[in-house]
Amino acid sequence: MYTVAQLDELKKLLRFHEHRYYVLNDPLIADYEYDQLYQQLIQIEQANPSLITPDSPSQRVGSSLNQGFETTQHLVPMLSLDNSYNAEDLQDFDRKAKELTNITAIEYCVEPKFDGASISLIYENDRLVKAVTRGDGVAGEDITNNIKQIKSIPLYAPFSSLGIQQIEIRGEVILSKAAFDQYNQKLAEQGLPILANPRNAASGSLRMKDPKEVAERNLDAFLYHISFVSFQNDEPPTALSTHAGSLELLWDMGFRSPKQEKKVLNGIEGVIEYCLDYEAKRDDLPYEIDGMVIKVNSLALQEKMGMTSHHPRWAIAFKFKARQATTTLIDVEFQVGRTGAVTPVAKLNPVYLGGVTVSSISIHNEEYILQKDLRKGDQVLIERAGDVIPQIVKSLPDLRTGNESVIAFPKNCPVCQSQLFKEEGEAVWRCINIECKAQVVERMIHFVSKDAMDIKSFGEANIRKFYEQGLITDIPSIYRLNFLALAQMDGFGKKSIDNLQAAIEASKQQPLYRLIYALGIRFVGETTAKTLANAVTHLLDYATKTEEDLLQLEDVGVKVAKSIQGFFANQQNLIMLQELEQLGLQLVNSKKEAVNSGNLQGQSFLFTGTLEQLKRAEAEAMVENAGGTILGGVSSKLNYLVVGADAGSKLEKAKKINSIKIITEQEFITLINP
Ligand code: IVH
Repeated sequence: MYTVAQLDELKKLLRFHEHRYYVLNDPLIADYEYDQLYQQLIQIEQANPSLITPDSPSQRVGSSLNQGFETTQHLVPMLSLDNSYNAEDLQDFDRKAKELTNITAIEYCVEPKFDGASISLIYENDRLVKAVTRGDGVAGEDITNNIKQIKSIPLYAPFSSLGIQQIEIRGEVILSKAAFDQYNQKLAEQGLPILANPRNAASGSLRMKDPKEVAERNLDAFLYHISFVSFQNDEPPTALSTHAGSLELLWDMGFRSPKQEKKVLNGIEGVIEYCLDYEAKRDDLPYEIDGMVIKVNSLALQEKMGMTSHHPRWAIAFKFKARQATTTLIDVEFQVGRTGAVTPVAKLNPVYLGGVTVSSISIHNEEYILQKDLRKGDQVLIERAGDVIPQIVKSLPDLRTGNESVIAFPKNCPVCQSQLFKEEGEAVWRCINIECKAQVVERMIHFVSKDAMDIKSFGEANIRKFYEQGLITDIPSIYRLNFLALAQMDGFGKKSIDNLQAAIEASKQQPLYRLIYALGIRFVGETTAKTLANAVTHLLDYATKTEEDLLQLEDVGVKVAKSIQGFFANQQNLIMLQELEQLGLQLVNSKKEAVNSGNLQGQSFLFTGTLEQLKRAEAEAMVENAGGTILGGVSSKLNYLVVGADAGSKLEKAKKINSIKIITEQEFITLINP
């Protein structure tokens, strides 16, 4: 017979060896010996089920499938990080930090930016009680059962020895490059599609139904932030004072924290050097990182600096530069979009690049192909920067063998064969047959999409499938979908049909601006859709509006006005709208939607030089509070550069871009408070 104390000893021993193996990568016993100990635990627990505790090493193995994932609130919102891309950005960050803290030299803690899926863990009374995905930052999905499959995350951690009763910890679930390759190999052997990159593989894994499958993926996790602590007594027995100290604490509690990877540095120049050194060795690391994270080390200063609504002011991500690869351009496909635009898409020999496997890239239009002198069979240099879509940088003509062939742009639509047209001043060839099958399908895909009518569980794949089967033919037919016919199709059970039916029904109540956006009128994005919805009481009022009327509306220029007028002048479109109204959709503007939540909505700003009246951070907060955004550098995306005393290179750069408005601090203040 075993006593509870003996069982506790056995659990402690198993935890010790798990930590040696999974966190330290330095096992002290052979796998066989570990298995023997583990089996001993299982036998004892089977004989005495009342002794099983949730933090027992046996409790990782999920016996049942996840039944959906419940939404659950984070104790503290999960913020994201502001980005920086070069030394100048980091110097700016440092200057702001000094301004905000009134300190002349700041100590930073720098650590890798792990490229995975963020998670939040809650421990209560030493036990892991909840693991949650990031979700929208305020609430995420409860994925506790799946997280328990990650062996480097302890189910038990002795926080009570530090007087801690409850703690919320943030980190990143990652898949090592080796585990990713291994998993993909397995998928390929089974003839299944391979996963694009370790980040997607990690986040996909966290939402899998079967925890056993999660276990097979060999996920890992780095924990790098303590977001909330409550103590057993009023007086905290342990006072944490630095971020580096939190990493030490997490490490001592058995977590894989970046204690060894981090570096504490005084002053920004050392930080820059450390970031660049790390960038140079990123490919040698066993896992993907996409940058570094720089954090003000003192927790008291962090508190003083606070946060904007999106990110802490005491931390910034330093994003690594684009990565390049060469591959073969095998072929070009021509795709027809919603507005009839024909886009050439280069099919490439798949290459793994900056975290994704790239096998096709848009090559935009005919001019682009000519400019870059792209040919079928060419070796091409491709590049990907951060989350940006990969691009072809150039072809490599020196590597040509003579077997390359010119890319001929079609004269007719590749889908409906009608003749293609190109408007003056435009680069795009267009199919103008609005009944072209490709356009009809793309219009429906847009119509049901998330930002449009948001008909959940419809999606691109179903639109294509139903269209092929003749179940839908155009937008109104979505609302006449024959659910009995659907029930005859493979893969449509009662539950999925009920869900689809409910989603279609619910979409009828979507506000008018969503319907306008969903119609896919050229140049009408969400903001213009709101303006249009607000300006009438019934959508069909637009049938009688002239181009001049439309030009009176905010954000509507000649191009947009022409497009809107053209849409409502088309009888087919008016008939479609009448049909939609009869089917129960909202064409009446019942609720005026606010276009702006602040007077700087959609405008971007950058500050340079020394401001006299405002602190830099204060000015930036004013922009964000008025709905504007702050950019990291001067580019054509910038709307306003606010110039203080002694402005330097940014001002020079901005002068070369006509669209940027260069204003003084006083002009900025007037703009904010008109
Ligand atoms: S700190 C308030 N540290 O990057 C604390 N984030 O782009 C904010 N990330 O949402 C996070 N490695 O998922 C922090 N060492 C690290 C990180 C890290 C990866 C992720 C995290 C965050 C995202 C922001």
